[in-house]
Amino acid sequence: MRKTKISGIGHYVPENIVTNKELEKLMDTSDEWIVTRTGIHERRWVDSRIGTSDLAVKAAEKALDMAKVSAKDIDLIIFATLTSDYNFPGSAVQVQDKMGMDTIGAFDIKAACSAFIYGLSIGDQYVKTSQADNVLVIGAEIQSTGVDISTKGRDMAVLFGDGAGAAVLQPSNGSSEILSTHIHSQGKYLKELWVEVPTSIESPCITKEMIDEGRHYPQMNGREVFRHAITRFPEVIMEALNKNNLTIDDVNMFIPHQANLRITQSVAKRLGVGMDRMYSNIERYGNTTGASIPIALAEAYQEGKIKKDDIVILAAFGSGFTWASAAIRW
Ligand code: UT7
Repeated sequence: MRKTKISGIGHYVPENIVTNKELEKLMDTSDEWIVTRTGIHERRWVDSRIGTSDLAVKAAEKALDMAKVSAKDIDLIIFATLTSDYNFPGSAVQVQDKMGMDTIGAFDIKAACSAFIYGLSIGDQYVKTSQADNVLVIGAEIQSTGVDISTKGRDMAVLFGDGAGAAVLQPSNGSSEILSTHIHSQGKYLKELWVEVPTSIESPCITKEMIDEGRHYPQMNGREVFRHAITRFPEVIMEALNKNNLTIDDVNMFIPHQANLRITQSVAKRLGVGMDRMYSNIERYGNTTGASIPIALAEAYQEGKIKKDDIVILAAFGSGFTWASAAIRW
C-alpha cells in the first residue's frame, strides 16, 4: 500500500483584528477575564460579506503553491467546517468552482473541532488505496457571524474566531508520512456543546420564536467540556504514540486544537511536555474550531518549528463529543 505525506500547507486569516477591549464595548466582559480564563488577547472576525469558502480558497492557494501542484491536479476536496457558506450544499463544492477545478469529488465533514483530523484521516485512506493522488483537506470557519455578541452570549462570543487552513496530501516515496490517525466520538454529550436550530426535528425547522429564544446560537457547558478535554487530549495523543512505538521524547512538536490556553497547559503538564513543544497561537486567533489545527500547523512550519523528518502530533477535542489525533513524520 502507498504512504501519504503532507506536501503543502497554508493558512489565511481575515485582516480585521478584534481585541478583548473592543469586546468590552459590545458586552459585559473584560480583557482580564478573557485573558485569565482562556489566554485569548484578540481574534480575527470578518468585516464584510465574505464566505467561509473565500477564506478557504486563500488558504488552499498557499497549500497548492507549497506542494507545487495546480488546482487542476487536485482530485478530491475534503472540507472540515461547521460554518459552510450555506446550509446546503457544503462549501467544498464552492472551492471546486472558485478554484476552477475539474468535476472532482468534494464534500464537507461536520466533526467540529476534530474535523480537520477526521478529514486528514479520510484523505489518507484515499491516497493509500490509490483512489486519489492529490487530496486537498481544508479546515475553515466563520464563527463571528453565528455568535450572540450581547452579554447573554458572552461565554461563547469571546472564544471564537474566523480563519482557514489547508493541506495537500500526496503519495510519499520518501520518509515523510502520515504514520497514523485516530478518530473517536461520544454522542451522548452532544448537548454539552451544540447549536440546536435549524433542526429537522421540528417543522418548520426554524421560527421567529426559536430565534427570539436564541436557540440558533451555540450553547456550551464550558466546565463539562473542559473536564472531558483535559482527559481526552492526553489519551488520544498517547494512542498515536503507542501505535507507532514512539515516546513523548520522540515528538518534536505537538499541535493541539486551540480551544483554551489553560487546556493546552493542562495537557502539557499531564504529558510532562514543556510549552516549547506545545504549539499555541490562541492569543492571536481565539478558537477557530475546524480551522485551528491547519492554521497552527502552517504557522509552526513557517516559524521553522517543524523541519524535515520531525515527528509531529496533531490532537483535537470538541463538540460531539469528538476527539482525534494524527502522528506525522514531516
Ligand atoms: O473548541 C471546542 C472545545 N471547547 C472547549 O474546550 C472549551 C472548554 N471550556 C472552557 O474553555 C472554559 O470553561 C470557558 C473559557 C468557556 C469558561 O471558563 P470557566 O473558568 O469554566 O468559567 P465559567 O463558565 O465557570 O464561568 C465563570 C464565571 C460565571 O459567572 P458566575 O456564575 O461565577 O457569577 C460566568 O457567568 O464567568 C462568567 N463569564 C464571563 N464573565 C466575563 C462567562 N463568560 C464571561 C465573559 N466575561 N466572557
